[in-house]
Amino acid sequence: MGTLRGSHRRWAEPYRIKMVEPIRIPTRDQREAAILDAGYNTFLLRSEDVYIDLLTDSGTSAMSDRQWAALMVGDEAYAGSRSFYHLVDAVHEVYGYPELVPTHQGRGAENILSQILIKPGDVIPGNMYFTTTRWHQEKAGGSFADVIIDEAHDPASLHPFKGNVDLDKLRRIIAEVGAERIPYISLETNVNMAGGQPVSMANLTATYELCHEHGILVMLDATRALENAWFIQQREPGYARRSVAEILLEICSHSDGATVSSKKDNLVNIGGFLALRDPELARRARGLLVAYEGLHTYGGMSGRDMEALACGIREMIDGDDHVRARIGQVEYLGNLLIDAGVPIVLPIGGHGVYLNARAILPHLPQDDLPAQSLAAAIYLDSGVRAMERGVVSAGRDPATGENRHPRLELVRLTIPRRVYTQSHMEVTAESVASVCADADEIGGLAFTDEPEDLRFFLARFRPLPVPAKSTAEVSQRPLAEPHLIASGG
Ligand code: F0G
Repeated sequence: MGTLRGSHRRWAEPYRIKMVEPIRIPTRDQREAAILDAGYNTFLLRSEDVYIDLLTDSGTSAMSDRQWAALMVGDEAYAGSRSFYHLVDAVHEVYGYPELVPTHQGRGAENILSQILIKPGDVIPGNMYFTTTRWHQEKAGGSFADVIIDEAHDPASLHPFKGNVDLDKLRRIIAEVGAERIPYISLETNVNMAGGQPVSMANLTATYELCHEHGILVMLDATRALENAWFIQQREPGYARRSVAEILLEICSHSDGATVSSKKDNLVNIGGFLALRDPELARRARGLLVAYEGLHTYGGMSGRDMEALACGIREMIDGDDHVRARIGQVEYLGNLLIDAGVPIVLPIGGHGVYLNARAILPHLPQDDLPAQSLAAAIYLDSGVRAMERGVVSAGRDPATGENRHPRLELVRLTIPRRVYTQSHMEVTAESVASVCADADEIGGLAFTDEPEDLRFFLARFRPLPVPAKSTAEVSQRPLAEPHLIASGG
């Protein structure tokens, strides 16, 4: 008898499919028309023109039968909704914070946190920026200072905790600007822009201690803290036998509060919250909540949204199988790409696989927007939708008006939770590998419409001619990474 070997038993899905949503596979002609119409920006494609949608893991999860059932028992009272109190209990039990300020999604919480804590001229250190987080910090008069370790900016570094704070960088900023001008550090778990890379418990503890010595608060962006907890369990000595639920609680114990976009870990399509320990800070947050979001017992959510969210928060930590399968699927796609010789950010991240566009398109200077161009080329090839995370997302420096040039010029293939199958991952890998094989035929893009704020969402572009080979060599920026062919596993 033949033997069937493999590692899929390690991560296969702990659910079966009860309902399906048919999707259409657009033809090449339809894709050409669609990307032209979208100004080469994958954010502007209509979902109906997309085959496999890996734009984001935000709000794209499949809810469980229990969550759908929970929708039916939502309490839609304007004030004092029962569903709000269910949510308060779930956040308290799972994250450990006693004060809950519900918002319509993560950026609603970021707005309120920034406004209650930041004064003009303040500096907010963070482990790499996130687009909306930094925007709200700047809008409140603050400026962001990056204190992530250098390895985070290197796609090939195999550091197991590339989300870590560099404590020396943080000490230097405290010495330069003074602790009184640093209201809090914004500490992101499983850092999105670095490729879904975790922070270690040791680093969280040390950061918390350093900040508290100086009277600086620690505010987590706990949007993907569950995925961070999984990596701690897998990689950090002493945690292998602890459940992700225990690890998640411990992560949050090293903070004074958190903003959460519930559209990720929490398995719902909309929602978010600001959670705090200090009742006085929560009182100030509620003062703004009623102006920006809604009454303090619903924020920006309906009763049924809060009910499904309370259920999702409990479900995500109901055993480790959910997160194991979720990250297992991301790893599966990442390993297919590594085997095909496609340069990706290593180690493979928690919520997506990040293609290293600098290495794939070394003939394009960063100002020709290589990652934006690669995302458009992948869509054209197969109808797979990805997202640029490079110079376009980084925007312009408000002080100088110049483009920011992040070292990481990436295309993110983001995996929605519980939505796609292994075959969808295989189709994606085949398409990306074939686009990369002909990468020298891909030209850059130029803005035709550049919005001032968070430009990546709504910008439009036009294609530039493919640089001739000789020009290509000259235009290589010194930072371009060597074409990395990582070994499997
Ligand atoms: N923080 C992080 C780390 C995020 O990834 C996001 C959203 C937010 C905050 C904002 O939350 O969208 O609910 O307002 N990230 C999405 C993404 C948009 O595609 O990565 P939101």
